[in-house]
Amino acid sequence: MSTVVFLGGGRITSAMLAGLHLSNTRHRLVVHDRNPDKLRKLKKKYNVAVELDLDRAVERADVLIVAVRPASVGGLLGAIGKQKGQLRRRRILAVSLAAGVPLRLLTKLLGRPWQWARAMPSPLCRSGRGLTAVTYSRGFPAAGRKLLSDLFATFGQVVEIRESKFDLFTVTFSPSHGYHAVASLARAAQAAGLDRKTAFLTSAHALADGIIAWREERLSLELLLEEAATPGGTAAATMAALDAAGYQQAVRKGLAAGLRRARANAGQ
Ligand SMILES: NC(=O)c1ccc[n+]([C@@H]2O[C@H](COP(=O)([O-])OP(=O)(O)OC[C@H]3O[C@@H](n4cnc5c(N)ncnc54)[C@H](OP(=O)(O)O)[C@@H]3O)[C@@H](O)[C@H]2O)c1
Repeated sequence: MSTVVFLGGGRITSAMLAGLHLSNTRHRLVVHDRNPDKLRKLKKKYNVAVELDLDRAVERADVLIVAVRPASVGGLLGAIGKQKGQLRRRRILAVSLAAGVPLRLLTKLLGRPWQWARAMPSPLCRSGRGLTAVTYSRGFPAAGRKLLSDLFATFGQVVEIRESKFDLFTVTFSPSHGYHAVASLARAAQAAGLDRKTAFLTSAHALADGIIAWREERLSLELLLEEAATPGGTAAATMAALDAAGYQQAVRKGLAAGLRRARANAGQ
């Protein structure tokens, strides 16, 4: 059993706490945030320990999860150990969730004996359906890798990927794609005449149910596409028109914009 300390008690920390709570984690969980109100709410909801003092929070950590926005990472790490310099000399497994902030910058802000990893959890971890990418700095201990991998596996699948692909993973895996696609399809169906309830029912079925079945049954996507879109039929005509209108191009542009934003937010 380890003590896992979250620095930042916002949206993703709340989702991770929900996932850990659901799996009855044996780890001790502590949250630090600069907003006492948020800490009170998290304590009440997930029965976690909270700590308003940054250094006291860090002192307790075996694993430290940095869950503030990318632009706040430098300030937060710079504030650690201002009074107690020994905190910076303590060996600690630190994981940053901040999109775009590279390991080399984290290591520059707080170097050895701190050992850095990056992780990118999905907010779906709150229901145990997460997907978390992890990447480790050179020399990150094997026991630490196992600890982190097991921790993230409590709320979903874990994949280790190279840091050079991390931002691309981040902009691709976001459940926002699915929500956005459902909203767009339902809006189009409503505009064409379906009532709101039926528009969302059909759109959610179109996007979610087929994909869940595809993953569970491990069928070929090409075969499923062939099955669902009879040549000369309505689905084939719809997809052809979507492609002709630039569907693929729009998705590529979306990912490219996300990548640019990840780099800009991280100040790279
Ligand atoms: N949301 C997601 O789905 C998701 C998924 C994967 C990774 N991430 C990454 O996780 C990080 C957090 O995202 P989020 O959506 O959870 O953000 P968020 O909701 O804004 O949460 C961040 C929390 O940290 C607090 N905070 C900021 N600076 C602080 C400081 N110096 N000391 C103490 N507390 C501080 C914020 O307080 P204030 O409200 O006062 O600023 C806020 O409560 C980001 O870097 C993001 O890239 C997010």
